[in-house]
Amino acid sequence: MTELIQEIKEKQNITLEQLKQILGEKDQEKIQQLHEAAACTAEEIYGKNIFIRGLIEFTNYCKNDCFYCGIRRSNRNADRYRLSKEEILACCKNGYELGFRTFVLQGGEDPYFTDDVICDIVSDIRKEYPDCAITLSIGEKEKESYQRYYEAGANRYLLRHETADDCHYQILHPKELSLEHRKQCLRDLKEIGYQVGCGFMVGSPGQTPETLFEDLQFIKELEPHMVGIGPFIPQQDTPFAGKTAGTLEETLKLLSIIRLIHPHVLLPSTTALGTIHPLGREKGIQAGANVVMPNLSPVAVREKYKLYDNKICTGDEAAECRYCMQKRMESIGYQVVVDRGDYR
Ligand code: SAM
Ligand code: FES
Repeated sequence: MTELIQEIKEKQNITLEQLKQILGEKDQEKIQQLHEAAACTAEEIYGKNIFIRGLIEFTNYCKNDCFYCGIRRSNRNADRYRLSKEEILACCKNGYELGFRTFVLQGGEDPYFTDDVICDIVSDIRKEYPDCAITLSIGEKEKESYQRYYEAGANRYLLRHETADDCHYQILHPKELSLEHRKQCLRDLKEIGYQVGCGFMVGSPGQTPETLFEDLQFIKELEPHMVGIGPFIPQQDTPFAGKTAGTLEETLKLLSIIRLIHPHVLLPSTTALGTIHPLGREKGIQAGANVVMPNLSPVAVREKYKLYDNKICTGDEAAECRYCMQKRMESIGYQVVVDRGDYR
């Protein structure tokens, strides 16, 4: 294993055979070596610093119908909500006081939030917080729209590609959505100048070592600044209700591999990882992640942004999440920093 890890690290790349070997590895000591090598790589670049992003889930309306997602348009049991601009700005104010210097505005593809409305919100946040990064995660748009948000002051964009394999993409999405369009959006965003994040769920229905290999190749090709991965977790009101969730072990292995082949990447230890294991986020950091995204959304709506079942932290105030995260990171020898946390 030591030689294999060394080779991946040196080449900053992995073959399908090597990926299969790691995914099939059961020896805990060897797996531990992989995680340690990845955590060391992260430390060489970012030290023991963990960047925090304040997540504001501002709408759970969505015009899409992704089969895995709890806020898909066909879910009649979803209790829909939208935050007003004033509510979003109040989340930012609270977040700024708590030491957040990045705000992530995430939501379904909600037609109420036209380009004008998004630009109005973004430019108000930009005016109020010139020292903060503004990240958008609002799905697939025209290049002109992305350009307008950028000019209004947004600087980062998260758009998980979900899977880089065409057939797998069709297993996860209805016919009207295409991988080609999603990839084009990512290329457009990069061209405009955004710091871009792609990513995928681990253990989603239909995923195989081969599709994961394509994901890793796509990441090499796109060279994103961020990669968001977390386990797939079924949601009871979706067509994937009865499917099996992704595992902690596999997610940790993939976090480590991504760190080794893409050393500088900003890599979150996600809420989904914390949902499938009580120490999931800590373990994610120890496997090479360097970002956490505590929730800044008002407690009143937290329960409603239910992408998957049993989501954690839905009852906690932003300050509780912030300090809970700080303690969790300190317990494993890391510190949360007040910083925009840009790509280095
Ligand atoms: N609408 C935007 C988009 O499509 O990129 C952002 C919101 S979307 C809910 C954010 C991410 O949640 C998706 O990219 C997906 O990977 C993840 N997600 C959705 N359902 C999930 C599930 N059941 N388990 C784990 N992650 C899920
Ligand atoms: Fe639109 Fe999930 S289906 S956010």
